[in-house]
Amino acid sequence: MNTASASLPVITIDGPSASGKGTVAERVATALGFHFLDSGALYRLTALSAMKQGVALDDEAAVAQLAAALPATFRDGAVWLAEENVTDTIRAEAVGEGASKVAALPAVRAALLDRQRAYRQAPGLVADGRDMGTVVFADALAKVFLTASAEARAERRYKQLIEKGNSANLPALVADMQARDARDTARAVAPLKPAADALLLDTTQMDIESAVRAVLSHYQRKQGN
Ligand code: C5P
Repeated sequence: MNTASASLPVITIDGPSASGKGTVAERVATALGFHFLDSGALYRLTALSAMKQGVALDDEAAVAQLAAALPATFRDGAVWLAEENVTDTIRAEAVGEGASKVAALPAVRAALLDRQRAYRQAPGLVADGRDMGTVVFADALAKVFLTASAEARAERRYKQLIEKGNSANLPALVADMQARDARDTARAVAPLKPAADALLLDTTQMDIESAVRAVLSHYQRKQGN
């Protein structure tokens, strides 16, 4: 990070899976005309890349090498791995599960650090993930930790899957979600936890618009300080 980009405003939105942080972060970025980083997509792409190449998800050195050289691009609202459009593929539960496994490996996290920080460009950035406010952009101007009950999150994921024509099983989704949260929270490096200075936003009973408004007013308050 150079000194010019260090002064650019960053809003971090962290939280567990299916808490709505991706949608909220994207809308906040659009409202402000900021860049948007979906850091989870980078972990998903790393897992997918390993799965495609037959690299074991616990082979730390080999997976880190893939992460460092990831031929990933985000363009036209789609996610690309080299020349392949993997927008839908990376959303599969199996890839999410794989992402959470490779994300526990310190060398993989280190390999993705600079790539994430490079998204800090004018006029500003909204970044969503697990460790945006605690590690990657620890100096962010405004930090938010978005939560919702495991049941509410599983129901949201269930609706998304059904809408896309996939089959889904609600109890299995709740179990998967709890397992993923447990792994993300318990890992030694960059565990899922709110930054000390984060605004906690429980969206169990909140719609997307209200969550977006809450994040924008938190940012405006911080700007005024
Ligand atoms: O946010 P999403 O569900 O796409 O992330 C997939 C997985 O990637 C998470 O379960 C988590 O293990 C990992 N992740 C992470 N740090 C981030 C973003 C995602 O460890 N900043």
